[in-house]
Amino acid sequence: MSYQGRFRVWRGDSEGGELHDFTVEVNEGEVVLDIIHRLQATQAPDLAVRWNCKAGKCGSCSAEVNGRPRLLCMTRMSTFAEQDTITVTPLRTFPVQRDLVTDVSFNYEKAREIPAFAPPKDLRPGEYRMQQVDVQRSQEFRKCIECFLCQNVCHVVRDHEDNKESFAGPRHLMRIAELDMHPLDTADRRPAAREEHGLGLCNITKCCTEVCPENIHITDNALIPLKERVVDRHYDPVVWLGNKIRRRRG
Ligand code: SF4
Ligand code: F3S
Ligand code: FES
Repeated sequence: MSYQGRFRVWRGDSEGGELHDFTVEVNEGEVVLDIIHRLQATQAPDLAVRWNCKAGKCGSCSAEVNGRPRLLCMTRMSTFAEQDTITVTPLRTFPVQRDLVTDVSFNYEKAREIPAFAPPKDLRPGEYRMQQVDVQRSQEFRKCIECFLCQNVCHVVRDHEDNKESFAGPRHLMRIAELDMHPLDTADRRPAAREEHGLGLCNITKCCTEVCPENIHITDNALIPLKERVVDRHYDPVVWLGNKIRRRRG
């Protein structure tokens, strides 16, 4: 069954823009990305949208539908009533390039700031031996498709542009947690998590977890445990004494 759906789509560029009204055919089983493609094919051939897999796996088609961060290819039209007007806007936290396409390079810059996996020096690739139980906790974080919806929704940067420099965001703090939980990683990730990547700015509002299309428990399983690990290191009297003695000797 088809019907004529009402849409408001943001069009513009880095200089500014506005919402445009469209009426587009909707067919059974379609997702919002299908509608955007039909809009391109029939009424707005120059409408910019980023997408790749149309299967919820590449993380390219992130945008906001009725103000909620979502993957366009995984948002079913059946979620909405036929009489609803559906608003599609670009991610709010990142600068707009054109229409629904934003510049997400902030996320790649933050990713580069995290030192890579650091296995013991005497261990060569191929000699890594671990049990499933060793990676049980951090395995969940590997499901991340880097859609950056969590980065977009976190109020620490969404509402405070000036925090971008000092806050890596949930996706990257989760990466630090993943490495810190890795049994073969030798780096101590905790001081940098606190001092360079802004772990303390996260006040566990859990908005990141709510929008994650991979249903990763970012806050409960990565951010809170990382906070606990940082606190243990910082306030454990034995660790504190050890650091103090080391500093004195230095
Ligand atoms: Fe997307 Fe989830 Fe990865 Fe964040 S953690 S980038 S929301 S898949
Ligand atoms: Fe932001 Fe998630 Fe923390 S939304 S405040 S990173 S729990
Ligand atoms: Fe790949 Fe949507 S197009 S996740």
